[in-house]
Amino acid sequence: MITIALSKGRIYKETLPLLAAADIVPTDDPEKSRKLILDTNHDDVKLVIIRATDVPTYVQFGAADLGVAGKDVLLEHGGEGLYEPLDLKIAKCKLMTAGLIDPKPRVSGRLRVATKFTNVAKRYFESRGEQIELIKLYGSMELGPIVGLSDLIVDVVDTGNTLKANGLKPVDHIADISSRLVVNKASMKMKHEKISHIIDKISSAVS
Ligand code: ATP
Ligand code: PRP
Repeated sequence: MITIALSKGRIYKETLPLLAAADIVPTDDPEKSRKLILDTNHDDVKLVIIRATDVPTYVQFGAADLGVAGKDVLLEHGGEGLYEPLDLKIAKCKLMTAGLIDPKPRVSGRLRVATKFTNVAKRYFESRGEQIELIKLYGSMELGPIVGLSDLIVDVVDTGNTLKANGLKPVDHIADISSRLVVNKASMKMKHEKISHIIDKISSAVS
């Protein structure tokens, strides 16, 4: 059995054609079905549909053999127990810091940064020698500076429309982001033939 972890939305939509190139076609649509495990055209290939941020965890612990996750999510997770053999070049965006277009005085003594990417933010500001106060959020980070919760946020930016619509501007670039195929290290050994076949087919489709 090969289990592939995917999240609903943009990653699922953009991964479907790549899976099809490896002759893997789901028999259900996760946007319509309430099922969390989807069958495919192969009895021995299943998809598990989970939150984007949970994909590395499922693959790390072998609950899924393969997965597709944004590099932002992988940087935050740390990549332990995972191989990252392929850049799928989908769901491209940038990890950035952002703040108000018209900055207000600092909310407190130390620079306050609100984000769901706390590990990334910690490493980034440490590398610049800046002491910060981190505030963990789970979404809608753009609100932070508006309501005086934080001075800056760390989030993914694509068109910049979300920032602009909320009176924010990008400040610093942290990393270019795209989605990656990740593989459980033990699965790569135990199911080598099947997994390398899938990787090869997807790799050809990407290029
Ligand atoms: P969760 O549902 O667990 O909170 P999420 O909302 O970040 O996760 P998605 O919005 O589906 O999940 O994003 C999945 C991945 O797509 C992100 O990890 C990132 O790599 C990328 N991504 C996020 N926003 C954009 C965007 N606006 N444009 C392009 N790619 C994006
Ligand atoms: C993501 C991200 C930003 C936005 C950036 O949100 O959290 O808010 O995209 O894209 P932009 O620069 O093109 O505006 P998403 O659309 O995934 O919504 P969600 O975070 O609620 O899932």
